[in-house]
Amino acid sequence: MPASEGFKNRALEELIEWLRIPSVSSLPEHKADVERAGEYVRAALDKAGMTRTELIRRGQGHPMVYAEWLGAPGKPTVLFYGHYDVQPTDPLDEWKSPPFEPEIRGNDIFARGTSDDKGQTWILVKAVQWMIERDGRLPVNVKFILEGEEEAGGEAITAYVGEKPARLAADVVVICDTEMFAPEMPTICTGLRGIVYGEIHVEGPRQDLHSGVYGGAAPNPLMAIAEILTALKDRDGRILVPGFYDRVVKPSADEQAAWATLPFNEAEYLEKEVGSTSLTGEPGFSVFERTWSRPTFEVHGIKGGFTGEGAKTVIPARAVAKVSMRLVADQDPDEAVGQAATAIEAACPKGVKAKFVLLHDAGPSLVDTSNRFVQASASAMEEVFGRKTVYMRSGGSIPIVGTFLENMGIPSVLMGFGLPDDNIHSPNEKFHLPNFFRGIDAVARFLEKLG
Ligand code: BES
Ligand code: MN
Ligand code: MN
Repeated sequence: MPASEGFKNRALEELIEWLRIPSVSSLPEHKADVERAGEYVRAALDKAGMTRTELIRRGQGHPMVYAEWLGAPGKPTVLFYGHYDVQPTDPLDEWKSPPFEPEIRGNDIFARGTSDDKGQTWILVKAVQWMIERDGRLPVNVKFILEGEEEAGGEAITAYVGEKPARLAADVVVICDTEMFAPEMPTICTGLRGIVYGEIHVEGPRQDLHSGVYGGAAPNPLMAIAEILTALKDRDGRILVPGFYDRVVKPSADEQAAWATLPFNEAEYLEKEVGSTSLTGEPGFSVFERTWSRPTFEVHGIKGGFTGEGAKTVIPARAVAKVSMRLVADQDPDEAVGQAATAIEAACPKGVKAKFVLLHDAGPSLVDTSNRFVQASASAMEEVFGRKTVYMRSGGSIPIVGTFLENMGIPSVLMGFGLPDDNIHSPNEKFHLPNFFRGIDAVARFLEKLG
């Protein structure tokens, strides 16, 4: 039986209150807000009928939220993972309604964190609450581990799962933090890319110099950044870091066959999702391959010199570029860091010093689709959406997926309800309300099938 209209509407009202808390994990000024958002979901899990809930801390970061209901001995244990932190909101003036004042327009709710990942995490909380209210119990054992710093690198949970805590023991991890291939197409995500995120620091002259007096003789760290970046990736999008592609594994024939059945129109993707005049990337690879099964090198920001209004003639003393590499199976983050650091030093022009400073990293992950958990999820979503479940990969990263598998041997099921046009990490982030409501029913149905 699906959850009642009344239950779903109350779930939405409570989600709206949660979305009002600006839990931006990467900005120190929001530390207390992140904490408040963690406490809000802990209290909600308590109210949902979980028998034990608490905040767990590791180091100086944001707390994790743990909850459990273990009243089904002999049945499987499902560990739900989600994150209650969100990305920063800039550029603020591009939002049609303020990011922390949720607004429903048509079938969508707009606010930061609606799709990534408070709205999707709320599906998990409410599915469990609905079943406990209806049946007085759950058909399987359920645990929750929610983190408050996924968008900032996930240090605390990585350390915690590394300790292999007995409390997190489970048969499967279930995550709603990915997207569906298209509206009305229930989707299981079968692979995520890993990431190495860091900064290229370049030091040149002892202090800023007059660019007229010294230009022509003094090295320029910003030019050095440009030279280094273009030495790392060519104009076709091929990464030039020696050894970088050595471990890259091709998707299997089965997987490629599954991708070939997905409806995809490149012109529409260019126009509606990317919004530029042309796509780029490695020749000879499809868009699915380029975004799901090939590694990348991207630059996110360059800092240095004068960036204010008007002109200032200066040769800056230093410059920094924020960069990341997305990794695919079987690349190893430590190895990629070493390769990048070596390539950066090798590409450094004379007169300046360049070094790579690692901020965070995570390995790629692939999901084995043959287990009963993936099968149960696919058929639960099929029943609720009335359409066949499709399998795709995603180019994004959820660092803890690999950590759960490698450290604790627990596989993940990625049953996400976001949509490609949800604007995650972007202005006007939204969540499609029919997916929120169906998500609650699909997760509940999934638990029933496992019980
Ligand atoms: N939920 C996303 C990852 C994602 C997005 C997976 C879309 C599949 C489809 C997650 O919150 C995220 O943004 N991860 C970061 C990782 C990071 C900061 C370590 C990412 O991918 O940039
Ligand atoms: Mn997310
Ligand atoms: Mn995110």
